[in-house]
Amino acid sequence: TDAHSSGPFIAAIDQGTTSSRCIVFDRDGRIVSVDQQEHAQIFPKPGWVEHDASEIWTRVQSVVDGAISKANITADDIKAIGITNQRETTVLWDKATGEPVHNAIVWQDTRTDALCREFGRNVGQDRFRRETGLPLASYFAGPKIRWLLDNVEGLRERAERGEILFGTMDSWVIWNLTGGPDGGVHVTDVTNASRTLLMNLHTLDWDDKILASLDIPKQLLPQIRSSAEVYGTAACTLAAGVPVASALGDQQAALFGQTCFSEGEAKSTYGTGTFILLNTGGQIVNSYSGLITTVGYRIGDQAPVYALEGSIAVTGSLVQWMRDQMGLIKSAAEIETLASSVEDNGGAYFVPAFSGLFAPYWRSDARGVIAGLTRYVTKGHLARAVLEATAWQTREVVDAMQKDSGVELAAVKVDGGMTSNNLLMQTVADFVDAPVVRPMVAETTCLGAAYAAGLAVGFWPDTEALRANWRRAAEWTPDMDAAARDREYKNWLKAVERTMGWLD
Ligand code: G3P
Repeated sequence: TDAHSSGPFIAAIDQGTTSSRCIVFDRDGRIVSVDQQEHAQIFPKPGWVEHDASEIWTRVQSVVDGAISKANITADDIKAIGITNQRETTVLWDKATGEPVHNAIVWQDTRTDALCREFGRNVGQDRFRRETGLPLASYFAGPKIRWLLDNVEGLRERAERGEILFGTMDSWVIWNLTGGPDGGVHVTDVTNASRTLLMNLHTLDWDDKILASLDIPKQLLPQIRSSAEVYGTAACTLAAGVPVASALGDQQAALFGQTCFSEGEAKSTYGTGTFILLNTGGQIVNSYSGLITTVGYRIGDQAPVYALEGSIAVTGSLVQWMRDQMGLIKSAAEIETLASSVEDNGGAYFVPAFSGLFAPYWRSDARGVIAGLTRYVTKGHLARAVLEATAWQTREVVDAMQKDSGVELAAVKVDGGMTSNNLLMQTVADFVDAPVVRPMVAETTCLGAAYAAGLAVGFWPDTEALRANWRRAAEWTPDMDAAARDREYKNWLKAVERTMGWLD
């Protein structure tokens, strides 16, 4: 908390995969207060991941109240509130009662794998790539909607009668925050919509042909708006009366918070997963190397900015898995201590294909492996292999990005929880063979949502004013022998091969 900050302020809600938080920022982009709460991770079957959307909404209200109380301010001091969120996670709810019809299906969930294969039969997984920038994969929201319509009794009829609403977490939070059944606005922003497999990147509107192919009734869908504009006014919590003025998927929000406003600028966020986004300006760049094309952001009625993205499903969540499921460490931070207790990986490679493999492979049939085991291998070596998995996956995506865009990354701008792990950041610099830099405010996701909301209400004049807030806090420079890097990379790729085709 910064005792010297004086108002007015901007608040941002980050509804993430494992927790929800609210942060209050001042005009210099400094953090005034933070409140955060975790919610339950529900694993009903192998490959399935769910959240209770009602629990999430309860947590969101509580962190909004918490952050505002801690800052010792009132709604009058807050000029706007912005929303950012875990993307793709899908909830359907009853418009009249606000009750979800089923647990939310989380982005990591692979239950729609067979459905996606069916949609791609004879045509392949790039069936909707030209329109949406995405391969057919269980990651995206559209197939999750279809699964719910097929599997929740009576749901399709209710949806067709217009009684049901769909949302990713941005829509769910905004609808509830602006009044829920009593006048809540049903909107999403272009970045979140670009993850559904249902939005056309060229028109920035729902694609009727795809909706027909997937048999999804349009009545379910929110209105697609820009990422920075006033959608409505908060009707509850201590923020009641504050304009709700931005929505961005968390990765796009991090791009915004890192002030990657120019073509060629990129960031890598180390959270539950890791997502590297490269700003490609007004251009929709098609990927031939396994990346996806997505909307970066759109400010009001300005032209949209597009991005190439390399999505990595499992990075921080592998550390959580080592802690919660394996009990090998007691806290996430301990992974670094354990990994530092040895010189190298002892010959072990861990490919955490828990949700299949995302970029650059897009293989839903992959499952995780630990390869290269001998009796020599200790907990320390495994911890090392866990960190190296994140660094190699970063390397694979950076390679693909350079191939697709021709842009050579001068440095990797990083943020997110895992960037406090020095050994990991050094390993990323070593494996990618480029410097890694981290800004002062590592909470770039919330910061990006706050920036967008602030721009929408004129709190900040333009993106140039925001750039001035970016300050370097740490840098790691590559220090690895090229021959060793090449040898290790080959071993990693061999281990990756072994994950594929596990499911038939
Ligand atoms: O696409 C999923 C992404 O939005 C989740 O982000 O921060 O929970 O890894 P995170």
